[in-house]
Amino acid sequence: MKQISSLAEMHQVRRNLQGRVGFVPTMGYLHEGHLSLVRRARAENEVVIVSIFVNPTQFGPNEDLDSYPRDLERDRTLLAQEGVDIVFMPRAEDLYPPGYQTWVTLEDLPTKLEGTQRPGHFRGVTTIVTKLFNLTRPHRAYFGQKDAQQALIIRRLVRDLNFDLAVVICPTVREPHGLAMSSRNEYLTPQERERAAVLYRALRRAQNAYEAGERHAEVLRQLMRDTLAKEPLARVEYVSIADLNTLEEIPAIISGSALASLAVRIGKARLIDNVWLGATPSTLDTDSENATPGRSTT
Ligand code: PAJ
Repeated sequence: MKQISSLAEMHQVRRNLQGRVGFVPTMGYLHEGHLSLVRRARAENEVVIVSIFVNPTQFGPNEDLDSYPRDLERDRTLLAQEGVDIVFMPRAEDLYPPGYQTWVTLEDLPTKLEGTQRPGHFRGVTTIVTKLFNLTRPHRAYFGQKDAQQALIIRRLVRDLNFDLAVVICPTVREPHGLAMSSRNEYLTPQERERAAVLYRALRRAQNAYEAGERHAEVLRQLMRDTLAKEPLARVEYVSIADLNTLEEIPAIISGSALASLAVRIGKARLIDNVWLGATPSTLDTDSENATPGRSTT
């Protein structure tokens, strides 16, 4: 496995790569969720590049940039075991040198859901992902459904800016009791980790009701709130039933598919999770008026 930090070397190596390139951007401290993306990329491409970069511009001033968990040694071992070809670990001072002033932002999608709690977060994400796409020039880039808003924003960015690559959105990997895997689960005590299963229980309740025919968005939101209210450790930030294309709250009746999502604080951790109602990443693409056949896949 080749390890690259220099931007010039990444450009140079990329110029000489043959075949399809699959790219998985990460912030490291890898778990089975990340590795599921890596395995999918390995199965679908001749070359696999994984980046590890804790991107400072997507963290707010009071967020966990300094304490974000890191273990580069372990990450490198895991990626080598998965047969990754290149691990790209750029330096912040190279990506954001003095005088840096170029930002990539979307108008609407980043103002919803996570954007209401984390202003500026998605500007950092879309800027770094654009830069990483320019450095690695992938044919396919892999993102987790776990961060649904992020994946949908990247999909929009790729279409709007005409990147010649497919965005592949992969299912959320969970602990046996339902908690979505996340590097930030590290902040939970063992007891809090158990209790954090309430997020997925709430989402499942909404999903079960939807599958049984319930289409009133507010009824589904209330089912999630009621479930969360039973867990005293859970401090709810938002509970949402939103349109999967616009991420706007659905005011009354769900007419097609929807995104059920929530953000909850437990102990020191801020946790997010979601399920898609009546849709998967592939159905979303065929439904969407803006779908580009063959580019985005499940
Ligand atoms: P990070 O949180 O490290 O996640 C990297 C990728 O792994 C994201 O696409 C995320 O959705 C996916 N992922 C995380 N947990 C997952 C799970 N339980 N199941 C499936 N996929 C999961 O997301 C970021 O980093 C950053 O914002 C990044 C895109 C790298 C830009 O800095």
